[in-house]
Parts: sequence; structure tokens; C-alpha cells
Amino acid sequence: MNILFMGPPGAGKGTQAERIVDTFGVPHISTGDAFRLAMKQGTPLGVKAKEFVDQGLLVPDEVTNGIVRDRLAEPDCSKGFLLDGFPRTLAQAEALDEMLADMGRKIDHVINLKVDRSFLLARLTGRRICKSCGSTYHVMFNPPKQDGVCDKCGGELYQRSDDTEEKVGTRLDEYSSKTAPLLAYYGDKGLLREVDGEKDIDAVTAEIGSLLRG
Ligand code: AP5
Ligand code: MG
Ligand code: ZN
Repeated sequence: MNILFMGPPGAGKGTQAERIVDTFGVPHISTGDAFRLAMKQGTPLGVKAKEFVDQGLLVPDEVTNGIVRDRLAEPDCSKGFLLDGFPRTLAQAEALDEMLADMGRKIDHVINLKVDRSFLLARLTGRRICKSCGSTYHVMFNPPKQDGVCDKCGGELYQRSDDTEEKVGTRLDEYSSKTAPLLAYYGDKGLLREVDGEKDIDAVTAEIGSLLRG
């Protein structure tokens, strides 16, 4: 199964992806996670990405497309994939169509997590992530059992550098101008599935699961 998760920053793409990949046995591919890993390792890709990620701006298409092309060619993607946070521009969507056509494959479902902008600032500024295993928490909406410590692996929780009020504003503007138009692109192809992302985390997982089993 080849799945795309769309939705604004903080909609719950990563949270839901962590749960859905276990059920459907496909790899979770997050371009945001790939950039953060490269930034942490200080690779040339990381240095390039940092210029943009730290400002809340989209990384240029040619950089982002290359990462996805390489990742989709890896053997674990042969049974399918869940792309989280890609594509985010029309040029990326067209590049993805080409990559998949070259591989003789296609997108099965585009899931759009719909969440009103008024919810997103609180979700993002309260987010905490495990340094060791990458699990996502929220200080109010999904707190760990012990403050600052991951339930799953005991790792230390940290806050993303782009989860400040100022950066969130830029990220939401990038989403509205460059990514939101993609909903019509996939709507016209009959692939778009809307999910109410304002419900609690378990309810959203259940709704996505039933759509995908559809
Ligand atoms: P990326 O890492 O993809 O960030 P994003 O799109 O801004 O999305 P987030 O990860 O912030 O939100 P999410 O939807 O995953 O929400 P989450 O589940 O964590 O990208 C980062 C940067 O990388 C970009 O700004 C850009 O620079 C670059 N980049 C990445 N991809 C790119 C591309 N294709 N092209 C160009 N540049 C690219 O949830 C958020 C919080 O809410 C958590 O704390 C969670 O616990 C909580 N929560 C989740 N669901 C619920 C719920 N139902 N109710 C209550 N709380 C909830
Ligand atoms: Mg995410
Ligand atoms: Zn952990």
C-alpha cells in the first residue's frame, strides 16, 4: 500500500504515521525527520537543509526530491510506503508521479488530516520528542508518564528548534501558500481522503485505519 499523509504543521502526521506503519507493515518516510537527522550528523545535506528548516521555510525542491527518490529505491519500500510531509509543492507532486511511474507504481491513498489553524500553535509549542527513538509526546495532550522521559525507551525528551511561536507562523504561511493547493491536485485525481484531525489521537487512528482497510 502506497500512502501519503498531508496536513498542516502539527496536524498529527508523525503521530499517526508511527501508529499506522505498525498496523500496515510499511516504512514511514518523513522528509522532516530525514533533514533533522542530516542536520544532527552535520552532513552536506544537513548543512544545506539547516538554512531553510531553522527559518521555517521549505527546503528547495531539487534537494528534497533527491532524498525521496533514493529512499523509495530501498528494498523495504517494495511492499509500500507511508510518505509524511512529502510532497509539499506542486513541483514535488509532479516529481513523485514521475518517480512512481518509473517504478511502475502509483499512490493508493492521500490522507488529509484536517485541523483548524487555531489548534496548531498549542500543539506545536507543547510538542516533545525523544532524542533516542523519535517518539512524539505533548505536554498536555499526550504527556509521558514521567516529565521529560520517553515511556518507550527512557530517552530524554527535547523540543524542536522550529517549534517556537515565530517559526510556527512562518511554517503555517508556507503551508497555506505552497502546500494547501496540492489538496485540489489529489482531489482532481480522486485520491484525497479527508480525516477530522481535531479528534483525540486514538479516534483519528481508528478513522485512518478504517479508510485504509476500506
Ligand atoms: P516536518 O518535520 O515535516 O514538520 P511539519 O510538516 O511542520 O509537521 P510537524 O512534524 O510539525 O507536524 P505533524 O503533523 O507531524 O504533527 P505531530 O504528529 O508531531 O518538516 C520540518 C521542516 O523540514 C519543514 O519546515 C521544512 O523546512 C523541511 N521539510 C520537510 N519536508 C519538506 C518538503 N517535502 N519540502 C521542503 N521542505 C521540507 O503532532 C504535533 C503535536 O500535537 C505533538 O505534540 C502531538 O503529540 C500532538 N498531537 C497529535 N495529534 C493530536 C491530536 N489528535 N490531539 C491532540 N494533540 C495531538
Ligand atoms: Mg511530523
Ligand atoms: Zn524513546
